[in-house]
Amino acid sequence: MTSFLTLTRPDDWHVHLRDGEGLAAVAGDTARQFGRAIVMPNLKPPVVSVAQAVAYRERILSALPGDSGFVPLMTLYLTEATLPAEIERARRSGCVYGVKYYPAGATTHSEAGVRDLSRCHETLRALEDLGLPLLVHGEVTDPSVDVFDRERVFIERHLIPLVQRFPRLKLVLEHITTASAVKFVLAAGNTVAATVTPHHLLYNRNALFQGGIRPHVYCLPVLKREEHRQALVRAATSGNPKFFLGTDSAPHARSTKENACGCAGIYSAHAAIELYAEAFEAAGALDRLEGFASHFGPDFYGLPRNTTSITLKRESWQVPETFPFGGDRLVPLRAGETLCWRLQESA
Ligand code: NCD
Ligand code: ZN
Repeated sequence: MTSFLTLTRPDDWHVHLRDGEGLAAVAGDTARQFGRAIVMPNLKPPVVSVAQAVAYRERILSALPGDSGFVPLMTLYLTEATLPAEIERARRSGCVYGVKYYPAGATTHSEAGVRDLSRCHETLRALEDLGLPLLVHGEVTDPSVDVFDRERVFIERHLIPLVQRFPRLKLVLEHITTASAVKFVLAAGNTVAATVTPHHLLYNRNALFQGGIRPHVYCLPVLKREEHRQALVRAATSGNPKFFLGTDSAPHARSTKENACGCAGIYSAHAAIELYAEAFEAAGALDRLEGFASHFGPDFYGLPRNTTSITLKRESWQVPETFPFGGDRLVPLRAGETLCWRLQESA
């Protein structure tokens, strides 16, 4: 049985690093494993301009030790007021690597998102022309659509028409959760890819109700049926470069999760690569982890692959019950449970 696993240093193509005390609490977890990360812009207020993205990037770097080597790849939050000129500035900045499309109201801090995508057509054209990826939260917000169907319906109503209208647009369907999303990505051209989270590879929706309601595995898009989890595992472990790593690690203070109206988001950055290793090993595909975690993301974004490496060791260890998070605590995925892979300290 393999007891060490060395990989090209992976990158996280979808993470929430938050700001202020939250940022200080979590940035080190991401930087310890990943060379780079696509940092989501859903702060309050959202990161809508290049100037804001540059300032946020500085705050991220200041939250880390000077020699961390970690490179934050910034994103802009698309609104109906985002102008093509801002996209041009983003392209020229060398600091912004994608533009995030949140349907207004779809998820945490998405109120400023887009209600009517047709208002953004000129901006989308600029993205297409400049080769800057659109990163899509793929769920409809229509309250009459069942929560578990919102991704599939979004693909049918919005995504298929979008890629028809903008066939050269680089697009990442973020944190996919269904067989419908896998099918859509496979059928689309090479300009379309998807990120897959560790929690959607490891859990189905039963986890939400195991012995009672489980706020710490509640995220959006919500966990789905087992058949969908299996479709995601097949896609992620297939070796197809359209599917790559994006944790969607989304920390929230314990008091806001363990709440009558608990917010959406799972914290996985404390053990992300270990959790992916577990999912790939369970599928008998550990040899496919490196492509998914370290090669396909930079290839899609047109960036060089990392040149350093990380090593995982087969070793049981217990995940802490909580971590400090500003004045509150953060409950990580697998809190108090045992993991079977452990990231080795970098030399
Ligand atoms: C994310 C967050 O908390 O910022 N929550 C989540 O459940 N994934 C937002 C998002 O990516 O949808
Ligand atoms: Zn997210």
